[in-house]
Amino acid sequence: MDYFEIEGGVPLEGEIRVFSAKNSVLPMMSASLLAEEGTTVLRNVPDIADVRTMAEVLQRLGAEVKFDRRKNIMHINAENLTSYEAPYDLVSRMRASFLVMGPLLARFGIARVSQPGGCAIGARPIDQHIKGFIRLGAEVSEESGYTVARAKKLVGNTVVFDRPTHTGTENIMMSAVLARGRTVIVNAAQDPEIADLARMLNRMGAKIRGAGTSVITIDGVEKLRATSHTPIGDRLEAGTYLFGAIATRGKVRVKNIKPETLRTVLCKMMDMGAAVSTGRNFVQVEMTRRPRAVDIITDPFPGFPTDLQPMIMATLTIAEGTSVIWERIFENRFIHVMELQRLGANITISGDRATIVGVEHLDGATVMASDIRAGAGLVIAGLVARGKTVVKRVYHIDRGYQNLEERLAQLGARIRRLTED
Ligand code: EPU
Repeated sequence: MDYFEIEGGVPLEGEIRVFSAKNSVLPMMSASLLAEEGTTVLRNVPDIADVRTMAEVLQRLGAEVKFDRRKNIMHINAENLTSYEAPYDLVSRMRASFLVMGPLLARFGIARVSQPGGCAIGARPIDQHIKGFIRLGAEVSEESGYTVARAKKLVGNTVVFDRPTHTGTENIMMSAVLARGRTVIVNAAQDPEIADLARMLNRMGAKIRGAGTSVITIDGVEKLRATSHTPIGDRLEAGTYLFGAIATRGKVRVKNIKPETLRTVLCKMMDMGAAVSTGRNFVQVEMTRRPRAVDIITDPFPGFPTDLQPMIMATLTIAEGTSVIWERIFENRFIHVMELQRLGANITISGDRATIVGVEHLDGATVMASDIRAGAGLVIAGLVARGKTVVKRVYHIDRGYQNLEERLAQLGARIRRLTED
């Protein structure tokens, strides 16, 4: 199993260009199933484990997938699908495989997808997805651990989510594009990756308005055809480098990122004392002092993203003063706290709140990643800590970041990947 060895204390400096957002690419790969004609082309696709898993899901359904890993270009042809089932071994590896449900149901009138179950960060139910499919006229049943949805022809309707759900919004949007009539999604998630997916679907022939806001209107069409698309830059990858720079008192410019996708995060960075500058397609931060403590509430977009919570927490461990983080999206997303404590962080948890009393220094130790973002938070802590930090179970990190260690090394970090016997 691979692990990272980090010698902390070096400021991150330089420029880096982020890949297309993982959370755009995964639903877009799934959307390619809607194209009855042609080959979908996605560009700047990161070579990460989750993308490879989604490619396997599509192949099991009968799609042809070609991924040029050197050029980061993916081709998907879904003209001749042979199955409507996403099996347990793949869905249990990656929950986002559930995103094939909407397109399969829309195109074939039936989809059978293994239930994803919980994961390290929480129970993560799919009731809102299912409620949406039922509103569009599907019959949904549970059969031996699989969710099976059937509908001869989906019919547009109003779908009101109890709470905004990112992949739920995408799944319903992708099923409604081929429904008869108009669908309105109310209380939709507003993440920029959803607007990005809608842009791609519209290029395929769909009629979607309002994606990126809380009300999305979809007028069903008969048929969609494949298109080429370059998904937006990954705000979570960008946020990881930016917090790395702030924590190590460095200066980093991240390119291929739209600042408006990180607005709330950049405000917090400024509150922490960072100098932030932005252009149409870049964000730069510079930090010359110890960060100031700030309070954070994670919320659906445009609130502070839960996916950057471990990274800001790692940065706040060495801040001047006391910070409080209130995690409102996932009930179990504090597993990294125990690991940060091993590095000398002073954090106490009470329910869904973590109180972080800033310390002068962290000291290197061996820690373990439990999910993609927890892993990235631990890497940032390792970049700050004095001496050597070992981060184990980097396969979690590899699910969401292409060669994180090489990319950080480009910015001056002393980090390398090693393999345990
Ligand atoms: N929820 C329900 N019922 C549902 C769906 C969601 O109760 O049917 C709850 C969830 O349990 C959670 C909240 O609603 O408490 C929001 O979850 P959401 O559905 O928005 O999460 P998701 O769509 O499963 C996506 C990202 C996650 C990210 C979350 C939150 C993808 C592929 N995944 O998951 O990304 O943390 O939104 O922003 O887009 C990651 O990239 O590391 C990652 C975990």
